[in-house]
Amino acid sequence: MYKLNEVINLEKEYGSPLYIFHAGEFKKNYMDLLETFRKIYPKYNIAYSYKTNYTPKICKLVKELGGLAEVVSEMEYRLAKKIGYENKNIMFNGPVKGTALLEHLLEGGVVNIDNLDEMKKVAIYAQENKTRELKIAFRVNIDIGQGFISRFGLDSYADSSIYSELDEAFRIANNENNIKIVGLHCHVGRSRGLTEWKNRVEIMFQLVDKYFKNIPEFIDFGSGMNSVMEPSLAMQFGGHIPTYQEYAEVIATAMKSKYGHLSYEEQPVLYTEPGTTVISGYMSFMAKVESIKNVKGKTYITFNGSGGNMGDICHLKQLPISVYHMGEKAISCVNATFVGYTCLEHDHIYEDFTGEIAVGDIVEFRNVGSYSNVFKPPFILPNCAMICENSIGNFEIIKNRETFDDIFHTYIF
Ligand SMILES: Cc1ncc(COP(=O)(O)O)c(C=O)c1O
Repeated sequence: MYKLNEVINLEKEYGSPLYIFHAGEFKKNYMDLLETFRKIYPKYNIAYSYKTNYTPKICKLVKELGGLAEVVSEMEYRLAKKIGYENKNIMFNGPVKGTALLEHLLEGGVVNIDNLDEMKKVAIYAQENKTRELKIAFRVNIDIGQGFISRFGLDSYADSSIYSELDEAFRIANNENNIKIVGLHCHVGRSRGLTEWKNRVEIMFQLVDKYFKNIPEFIDFGSGMNSVMEPSLAMQFGGHIPTYQEYAEVIATAMKSKYGHLSYEEQPVLYTEPGTTVISGYMSFMAKVESIKNVKGKTYITFNGSGGNMGDICHLKQLPISVYHMGEKAISCVNATFVGYTCLEHDHIYEDFTGEIAVGDIVEFRNVGSYSNVFKPPFILPNCAMICENSIGNFEIIKNRETFDDIFHTYIF
């Protein structure tokens, strides 16, 4: 919650709508996750999921905090390089890696292979670059009880009687003397519960035991942990939201039991790849009320922002909000719907608002750090500016407001 004066000044200085990245709180939460895991298994690190929010300021902050860059495309790879990452600190995932795949391998980075065609491509690179050692790991496709078949990773089973795509990938890789298999990776979406995490860990350990004669350099569990949420949002998920401590007790404790007897050097690095887990709660979107209308008994409050700015979360859940009254005569609303500036019928950004609100008021929508600004289409309007709030409440611009030219300069007029 900001002071009214502050909100007025922010609008004056940076325009409306506006994103605010809360850097101080982000850092605190990030360190909390890191330290909670490290207390149990010191050889833990975070590989931050760029796609979730690749705002350079955030990525640079992660780098300052010692985290790796988890990238899933050539574009994200180039961003990590531009930010100054050495290849050894870039975790390269994703089903389509483009020309960055070979560059990353030749620079000594590890590629997490997603499919057999990618494996075959890397085998050819290995034959063409006999003097170089190419480091790879495999993203494995596992069933942890998520209730759907994931399309990512190499199909794999602990059961040795099944010849799987993972078996074939190991066979192809092992045929090349200069390919080194250094780790195992998984990521399973839409399954953030502790039971699924216990299953993840158990299955990953079975696969490590099956395929690795020596201790791998790392085991990467992806992410799929819940973030820390305001109570009003947390309760909409139903059931228990595990804390970082509870996740650490499952994941880091299992790593400690399995590898704790080894020297630090011999232990595999434990990675997770948080995205939503670390960024969702640390970005707000401030949007202004443009009009209030009644249609057939229903009140619609139209904003100068949209669901495109905030991402799917605003359609799926009631975001935590604060209303800042700017002084116009307020109207009492019952069960009003907040809608975006787009011409999409479904651009509802908040349902059932009951309270006082006026044209010109500013609403802060919180918890919009994931798949928001990075997911904003150039649909109808360019995106707005973003500012960063540091730990002592100072602000700086970290993304300029997009212009007409930003949208149209690739089109031929
Ligand atoms: C490979 C990979 N790693 C990490 C993440 C981030 O996970 P989360 O947002 O659950 O922290 C994703 C998200 O989809 C992913 O695909």
